Amino acid sequence: MESIKADHEGVDELLQAQSHVWNHLLRFISSMSLKCAVELEIPDIIHNHGQPITISELALALSIHPPKVQSLYRLMRILVHSGFFAEHKISGQEKGYKLTLSSKLLLKDDPLSTRHFFLAMLDPVFMKPWQYVSAWFQNDDPVPFSTANGKIMWDYAANEPKMNHLFNEAMASDGLLIASAVLSKCKGVFQGLESLVDVAGGTGTLTKVLAKTYPNMDCTVFDLPHVVAGLQGSENLKYIGGNMFEKVPPGEAILLKWILHDWNDEECVKILKVCKEAIGSKDKGKLIIIDIVMEKQDADEQTIEAELYWDMLMMALPNGRERNEEEWNKLFVDAGFNHYKIYHVLGIRSLIELFP
Ligand SMILES: C[S@@+](CC[C@H](N)C(=O)[O-])C[C@H]1O[C@@H](n2cnc3c(N)ncnc32)[C@H](O)[C@@H]1O
Repeated sequence: MESIKADHEGVDELLQAQSHVWNHLLRFISSMSLKCAVELEIPDIIHNHGQPITISELALALSIHPPKVQSLYRLMRILVHSGFFAEHKISGQEKGYKLTLSSKLLLKDDPLSTRHFFLAMLDPVFMKPWQYVSAWFQNDDPVPFSTANGKIMWDYAANEPKMNHLFNEAMASDGLLIASAVLSKCKGVFQGLESLVDVAGGTGTLTKVLAKTYPNMDCTVFDLPHVVAGLQGSENLKYIGGNMFEKVPPGEAILLKWILHDWNDEECVKILKVCKEAIGSKDKGKLIIIDIVMEKQDADEQTIEAELYWDMLMMALPNGRERNEEEWNKLFVDAGFNHYKIYHVLGIRSLIELFP
């Protein structure tokens, strides 16, 4: 095999390739720096300060030892670079830090915050599988998660209350933001429905909003028994525990949010068939799927990269995958559905209406 040559002509390209390798090697520092800021509650401190905060004010609020203030500045500098904080000139040379929309999503008390999801995915239980992906390729475990943690994710959560709570909170923290997006972009999809069953709906954050918005819609959140145990419903919302591979409660519409990407094709067809049974009537019922549709036309670089990351996440944690439209269509045909409509209006995710 020919070895790499660092001759005069090729040296610039070689150095560029080296930067490329280093940039990818060090990408974890981007996640970990942000994790550090979130754990220190820097977004909350800036928010509560009510105006741009200087590095010395921030250091004081965090009780940082004086020799480490320079390190705090370096942490803030990388997070300014990655768009989580913005610098604002206060007076003369002095500048302060402000939140950006992205760091507002990491505040502790904002209802739309994604903080729980962010911290859960960087918890050691979800990070450990990444150390085992290459081993998993050569063993017969279903997923790197089970190579790392000894069990598949759902069994692990059923037996570890701390992880069950961590995961459910993480999922719930997506509910209010997606609810606002769904109601602002595709309200018509839910209009006039008499009943809706949120299959594998977790603790039901999204469906609680739907139940409030549509008081005449009878809502059910269905999930594994340990997930819905002890949860209180309301006038038009109830919780039911069970296994979606066996039977789900009947309803005019079945919602599957962030579910099918957790499973392989065969399992998805099974879930879709069980849901088809549950909507009964051929003229009225439908499934509403919220998930990623990969390879959307005109997707920008950030979206493409996020889709690829999500696909790897599904490979490492639950044994699922992200799908392009052709792959979704195949699942629908195999499960006996007739037609669908896709709304690419939920950021990197899409909403699909699926009809029997
Ligand atoms: C990725 S979470 C999504 C939760 C919720 N739909 C959301 O978007 O926030 C997947 C959900 O599937 C549930 N689940 C896994 N296996 C299940 C099964 N066999 N029957 C019912 N629910 C199941 C999990 O407990 C979890 O709540």
